[in-house]
Amino acid sequence: MFALLTGAVEKPQAARMSWDATNFHAWVEAFCARESLVVLANRGPVLNDDTRAGDGGRCGSSSGLVTALEPLTDSGRLLWIARDNVPLTPEETQGYYDGFCNEGLWPLCHRTSVRPVFRGHDFRMYSLANARWVTALREEMAGHAPIVLVQDYHFALAPRMIREWLPQATTAAFWHVPFPSPGVLSACPWERALIEGLLGSSIMGFQTPDDCQNFLDAAVCVLGADVDRDDGVVSHGGHRTLVRDYPASIEWPNRWALESLPVDVCGTIVRRRFGISPETQLIVGVDRLDYTKGLPQKFFALERLLVTRPEFRGKVVLLQVAEPSRSRLSTYADYRAHVCQTADRINQRFATNNYQPIVLLDRHLDKREVFELFRASDVCYVGSLHDGMNLVAKEFVCARDDEKGVLVLSEFAGAARELVDALCINPHSSEDCARTLADSLTMPISEQTTRMRSMRAVVERSNAYHWAANVLQDAVAMRAGTLGRSESGRRIADTPAVAST
Ligand code: G6P
Repeated sequence: MFALLTGAVEKPQAARMSWDATNFHAWVEAFCARESLVVLANRGPVLNDDTRAGDGGRCGSSSGLVTALEPLTDSGRLLWIARDNVPLTPEETQGYYDGFCNEGLWPLCHRTSVRPVFRGHDFRMYSLANARWVTALREEMAGHAPIVLVQDYHFALAPRMIREWLPQATTAAFWHVPFPSPGVLSACPWERALIEGLLGSSIMGFQTPDDCQNFLDAAVCVLGADVDRDDGVVSHGGHRTLVRDYPASIEWPNRWALESLPVDVCGTIVRRRFGISPETQLIVGVDRLDYTKGLPQKFFALERLLVTRPEFRGKVVLLQVAEPSRSRLSTYADYRAHVCQTADRINQRFATNNYQPIVLLDRHLDKREVFELFRASDVCYVGSLHDGMNLVAKEFVCARDDEKGVLVLSEFAGAARELVDALCINPHSSEDCARTLADSLTMPISEQTTRMRSMRAVVERSNAYHWAANVLQDAVAMRAGTLGRSESGRRIADTPAVAST
């Protein structure tokens, strides 16, 4: 039976227990029994999302946001307000989503060569879209005092609107992508509105401590806000916001891993499906077709490996899934062309009658197929140039219950802070990446097992239930006034509190 946590926050009782679906759902029922929980997000949790139609009509999401929120959705306690519930005209969508979100904020938040574009019209559509979502929230929640979980860079203005229009609500906002330093943020003409908007939240969550620091710096530089760096609290306009890192994660135990075929069977099926010979070593990459993901750099690294270590020619294949994304934007269309051309050039260079080093799949794969690829592979290669977290890395670890396989992971992905037993790369250096790839392809099984075991322990402990419980527990405590200065900075839900029956 699970101990009821009421009012004041208690320390976890069982140091070795992990959060899972059962104890999380029991905890939500007990701890949030009287709360109305609402998610505000651009994407819905459902799988038939017509906003994907331009990107191949996929029926499922590879978005980290949806993956991280799955446990909450499954708890059945959540009202989710997304694009399907808040219709926008094509012009509004274009300005809000294509324009301000994806031509402005997305490149602003990521260190890549694509420069952000900011247009007044786009910002007006962004403000209007934020107001639409909050209006829908107010209509649904009239007379209630919900906990509102505002998701990602699509809704920087919403927390302040919620504070003004639904003052009895408590808002916890989570920024899934990196947060830029004040110098970078200053390229946005509406930086002040963004920071003030986010400070409408009681809790402002980020993926890493660095993102928190950037946000605190911005609150000082842009607004001159009063910041307590020890406790991570911003005071501005008579309101306090707790700023914390909550590293997003995945479901564990994971239904896709549990339902997968044995690893050797996956290896045979995948190699046969893609015409790869049984002895060939398989490197797998699974990314959205996005310029932050470093796909050409990955191909250059493989090319470098095949040049400097000719013994790998004909012996290793990179199977790269590149899921179409935001393809209405010219930057994405151009990037797709560049990725395809680079793969073609390298394939022509090293191809033989029955071998090509890169297999590029530019389509959506469902989770079952992705887990099958992970289980079939020798190496998973995450080469992001900059990434908030990267849940693909955690999913690979989760898929490998045989404790084999090597994770090659960019140092610029948030996941690198936690998955210290991955082989860490600088994706900009093809020499570094080629050397690391060679190490990964020749790593002794015993070392693979040691590293994989330790990464699996990390993801098991710090899973999506843990993430959601931490955010919710802090939100409930903020609302109750029990998360004051002395409490902030303490992790209160690292493990579920349990009592034996
Ligand atoms: C990132 C963002 C998510 C977004 C996802 C897919 O992971 O943090 O909020 O949903 O990319 O992008 P899309 O524009 O297709 O929703």
